[in-house]
Amino acid sequence: MNKLTDMNFELTEEHLMVQQMARDFAENELKPGVIERDREQYFPPELLRRMGELGLLGMMTDPAYNGGGMDTISYILAMEEVAKWDASAAVIMSVNNSLVCWGLEHYGTEAQKAKYLSRLTTGERIGAFCLSEPEAGSDATRQRTTAIDQGDHYLLTGTKNWITNAGIADIYLVMAQTNREAGHRGINCLIVERGMQGFELGPKEDKLGIRGSDTHSLNFNEVKVPKENRVGPDGFGFKFAMNTLNGGRIGIAAQALGIAQGAYNLAAAYAKQRKAFGTEIINHQAIQFKLANMATEIEAARLLIYKAGRDKDEGRDYVKSAAMAKLYASRTAMYCADEAIQIHGGNGYVKEYHVERMLRDAKITEIYEGTSEIQRLVIARQLAR
Ligand code: CAA
Repeated sequence: MNKLTDMNFELTEEHLMVQQMARDFAENELKPGVIERDREQYFPPELLRRMGELGLLGMMTDPAYNGGGMDTISYILAMEEVAKWDASAAVIMSVNNSLVCWGLEHYGTEAQKAKYLSRLTTGERIGAFCLSEPEAGSDATRQRTTAIDQGDHYLLTGTKNWITNAGIADIYLVMAQTNREAGHRGINCLIVERGMQGFELGPKEDKLGIRGSDTHSLNFNEVKVPKENRVGPDGFGFKFAMNTLNGGRIGIAAQALGIAQGAYNLAAAYAKQRKAFGTEIINHQAIQFKLANMATEIEAARLLIYKAGRDKDEGRDYVKSAAMAKLYASRTAMYCADEAIQIHGGNGYVKEYHVERMLRDAKITEIYEGTSEIQRLVIARQLAR
């Protein structure tokens, strides 16, 4: 797929087609039922299958592994459209694309790609990324889960927390400590399959937002993981996680952008039809200023995200630009969802109008794939280099 043209961020024909496809899917298939899925904390397998059919689950992966072979900008565009109506669908998509498929494609062996990747890109299998632990969230080098080297296999023992897709996944990329003395250089990433003996799904989390997405803890009790399931060389697991999360942050930034734009769209439409003091509220300067501020923040976030995507597509270092994009876009999502509720007044506080869900969904974008504080740390370290 063609790159963006220089500086003006003009989208190509292919970009516009991907954007339209994702927009149609979100409006026609995700929007109906999104309130019920939020209430019931459920994502139907039929919708997952549709996302696979539409190529939304392995967008950037090489077609040799059934992926879409698209650039990061296409992925950003699709993520924004999906997140406009359903941030839960967007996070399912984000973890599968950015963390699992990208990680396996870049660091997996040919055998691992043939066995796992080709089915993850189509949605026949769903992936989960397992780094966080009860005592290792932001401080991710402090892994307590162990992978003891037993010659031809590892014995995996420990607990992972807040794992997106945990209950619907088949393939889990699990970070675990093999050599504690080596610190972060003693961590490995292992491919664990659902159904391996000693693997146990923990309780489902009852969350504030992204309630349609499935989040559980996971327990590993001496799970025998074959050596050929290690991703990358011995001790590469932490670098694997960091490198993968750098790209993941672009996807989450695009998810946040979608929430912000979705909230803006609803607020602007509402302001055009709601009357107060003898006129549609959009005619009041108080509302106009809110919409102007929201639109400005959204545009700034979008440009930062496109910049990060383009850095990645053109082979430049994107650690800083991805962290900046996520930091800014997640704040923008919170701000726009909050203002959208304010513009809706009392109606904004009830589920039927969608914007209260958007505020709840927005909050997680300031937490997962590194809190806003971690993004600032990453940016500051890059600036100090
Ligand atoms: N990219 C590449 N490498 C990086 C990196 C980055 N962004 N950040 C750190 N590293 C490397 C360092 O270069 C260093 O390697 P060397 O020793 O070889 O030089 C190694 O990792 C350790 O780095 P630090 O000494 O800087 O480690 P630290 O403990 O001081 O800080 C951290 C590390 C940046 C805070 C890291 O722990 C971090 O990013 N924490 C946030 C974790 C996170 O994002 N979790 C998300 C969970 S997954 C998720 O949320 C998915 C979902 O549900 C949607």
